[in-house]
Amino acid sequence: MLTLHTLARPIDDWTLETLQRDPRQPLSALQGNILRGHGRFYAAHLLLHFQPDRRAAVTQWLRTLAAQLTTAQQQLEETRQSRGLFRAFFLSAHGYAYLDSAFPRRNPGLHDPAFRAGMKAARHRLNDPLPQTWEPGYQQDIHAMLLLAADDPVALQHDTDLWCASLQLHTTVCAIEHGQAMRNAHGDRVEHFGYADGLSQPLFFQSDLARLKRRGEHLDIWNPGAGPQIALVPDPYARQEGACGSYFVFRKLEQRVRAFKAMEQRLARVLQLTGEATERAGALVVGRFEDGTPIVLQDTDGRRTNSFTYADDPDGQRCPWQAHIRKINPRQPGIPTIVRRGITYGTRSAESHEAASLSALPTDGVGLLFMCYQRAIAPQFEFLQAALANNPAFPSKQAPGIDPLIGQPGSQGVGWHRWPNAAGHTQQRPVNFYDFVRLKGGEYFFTPSLPSLHQIAP
Ligand code: HEM
Repeated sequence: MLTLHTLARPIDDWTLETLQRDPRQPLSALQGNILRGHGRFYAAHLLLHFQPDRRAAVTQWLRTLAAQLTTAQQQLEETRQSRGLFRAFFLSAHGYAYLDSAFPRRNPGLHDPAFRAGMKAARHRLNDPLPQTWEPGYQQDIHAMLLLAADDPVALQHDTDLWCASLQLHTTVCAIEHGQAMRNAHGDRVEHFGYADGLSQPLFFQSDLARLKRRGEHLDIWNPGAGPQIALVPDPYARQEGACGSYFVFRKLEQRVRAFKAMEQRLARVLQLTGEATERAGALVVGRFEDGTPIVLQDTDGRRTNSFTYADDPDGQRCPWQAHIRKINPRQPGIPTIVRRGITYGTRSAESHEAASLSALPTDGVGLLFMCYQRAIAPQFEFLQAALANNPAFPSKQAPGIDPLIGQPGSQGVGWHRWPNAAGHTQQRPVNFYDFVRLKGGEYFFTPSLPSLHQIAP
């Protein structure tokens, strides 16, 4: 029998049919948003703390909730036009310990040590700020997160109100994070610094790869196809064989947009870029221009594509080694993958590219609700953040400094960022980029399978 969490290749039509005929219904036991993003424009993320001694009430509430969550199967059936409310649910190690007093002592699974210890305990590995400096809602123990999403903000608010009312007798809402997708003129999703985001993602269905091919992407150059095994593990709390879940990271990352854009301008001056060429400065930092064009393809057939590697730029003269996307995915074998599902938060009056002056840009209060799924947190998310982004000496031969977007310096420092200029490929004097993204709080979770929400409590 096919098991979802061992599939090493994208799901083709035959495999999909087999999974759908399976009486265990693995795709209906799996929550949505993992194998495909929910894609809604608006989302509310409710960070929850179960009140002491209310386990029976919480357990009852979980059963009601389980029937209302969006499954992977339902996501496959929805279309742009038909898609309505989306709901997903996550439990932290504190949440499991609340529901099952034997967790983690007699824990039947969920062995991931990073998950068990929680994000606050990961501080030293990730160079995160002290949890006492996080936003107040994140300072207490977070047991669970409910993610609600919709294209219609009124429908989302209504759903959020209903769920808040349904849980108030046994659960405290520590924080509600409102996500709102931002788009550029081409309709692509962008993040607050103004760059197209979500372009490079693992894809789990052959049909999604076929769609890319029809759009002109060259899968022989870079193939984002992946097997569900990179994100799924069996859910030990489900008595149903084949039911899977996924480890999930949630981080509220504030973006200091005004300071970042000022630094981009400084880099442009140092590199003597003028006029339209000033855009190159930011592209060196991110690895793509604002419209998504990879800087490594700039002088060839540049466009918003994901069909590229760095094979023709071995010295980092077109795309520097520290550029966010090259640092975090040098597109070489052996680099782990995560399934990114973040959404921007916070509203602002002017977009980065249309603001007449820096003073029109936000200094705080906006950013990214970074979210990712994986089969294990330490070798996937934590490896990317700690061993790549925060490590000034990765890759070791070049030692290019930390990731200028998300690197958090530790005892090894920032390193020296050197930037290639447009013409002569000479390395200019260093301009160090860091501290434009700050962690405001977060937690590690597991995305339980739907059957387990009926079975978790002893
Ligand atoms: C506020 C924080 C962040 C911003 C503004 C940001 C921005 C971006 C942008 C603009 C891209 C290019 C679009 C794309 O290729 O999909 C990108 C790609 C990516 N980011 Fe981030 N990011 C942030 C945080 C993170 C974090 C925390 C991680 C993981 C530790 C991460 C991992 C990645 C990965 C894996 C890619 C794809 C690279 C590739 O495959 O070429 N990002 N990010």
